[in-house]
Amino acid sequence: MKKLNVLITGASSGIGFSAAKAICGAGHNVFGLARRIDNLQKLSEQCADLNGSFLSFIGDVKNDHDIENAVKSMIDEFGSIDVLIPNAGLGHFNPLEKGTMEEWRSMVDVNITGVLKTIHSSLPHLLNSNGHVVNIGSVAARQVFQNSGVYCATKHFVLAISESLRIEFSDKVAVTTINPGAVNTEFIGHTTNDSLRNEYKPRFDSGMDSSFIANAILEAIEARGKGIYSEITLRPDRR
Ligand SMILES: NC(=O)c1ccc[n+]([C@@H]2O[C@H](COP(=O)([O-])OP(=O)(O)OC[C@H]3O[C@@H](n4cnc5c(N)ncnc54)[C@H](OP(=O)(O)O)[C@@H]3O)[C@@H](O)[C@H]2O)c1
Repeated sequence: MKKLNVLITGASSGIGFSAAKAICGAGHNVFGLARRIDNLQKLSEQCADLNGSFLSFIGDVKNDHDIENAVKSMIDEFGSIDVLIPNAGLGHFNPLEKGTMEEWRSMVDVNITGVLKTIHSSLPHLLNSNGHVVNIGSVAARQVFQNSGVYCATKHFVLAISESLRIEFSDKVAVTTINPGAVNTEFIGHTTNDSLRNEYKPRFDSGMDSSFIANAILEAIEARGKGIYSEITLRPDRR
């Protein structure tokens, strides 16, 4: 199949890191944005022997200019954006009564505004390429869980914006929402409520490997021309 040029945010760990590696391994070009330079360097080294190429961009999705510069730089280097994966995201678990405004704002800034800005800056290029947006939702995009009200709200937003893109651009841009349950990544480490973090950590540690999510993302983007996976839900196999 045609080599795809893929922009992914949050490429420095977890699902983003694994997805970047899997996509690169399948021979596509990946442009990965995140803040942690050491992790991006590690990813770059791991991609060096693979069929595709990997370029990293140090940036913060809370900064509009970083996203604009990343998109410009990707177009300069690869010439197009065929696939956008606005994956950067985080969750702080806390009951609403204990949540701080700082925690709530950081989830909104990254999971909502960061995703929106990334889509907004990439959209003209996605329309040019008849590209594909792969949004990273969660099982929390369809269900609300205790102690994670604001996180669930941000993921409901992700699903809503996916559906909006799908409806408005149905003959121009493909849209997939990936909805994972617990994945074993750094995600749970952001929860500052010690008792909740300790309580939830084993569920995440025994959750899916990020490579399982990465393979679903790869499957979705390589389905081009055959059909579109609108929504993929992945849950840990706890048998
Ligand atoms: N783990 C799960 O169980 C699970 C389940 C469902 C959905 N998800 C979703 O999957 C996505 C990836 O999470 P993960 O589990 O892979 O967690 P992770 O290992 O903590 O990775 C999060 C990624 O987001 C990046 N990021 C966070 N804030 C950023 C910012 N301001 N600017 C740029 N990049 C930023 C981080 O990079 P830097 O820190 O280097 O910037 C990192 O690469 C998120 O959208 C999350 O909501 C996770």
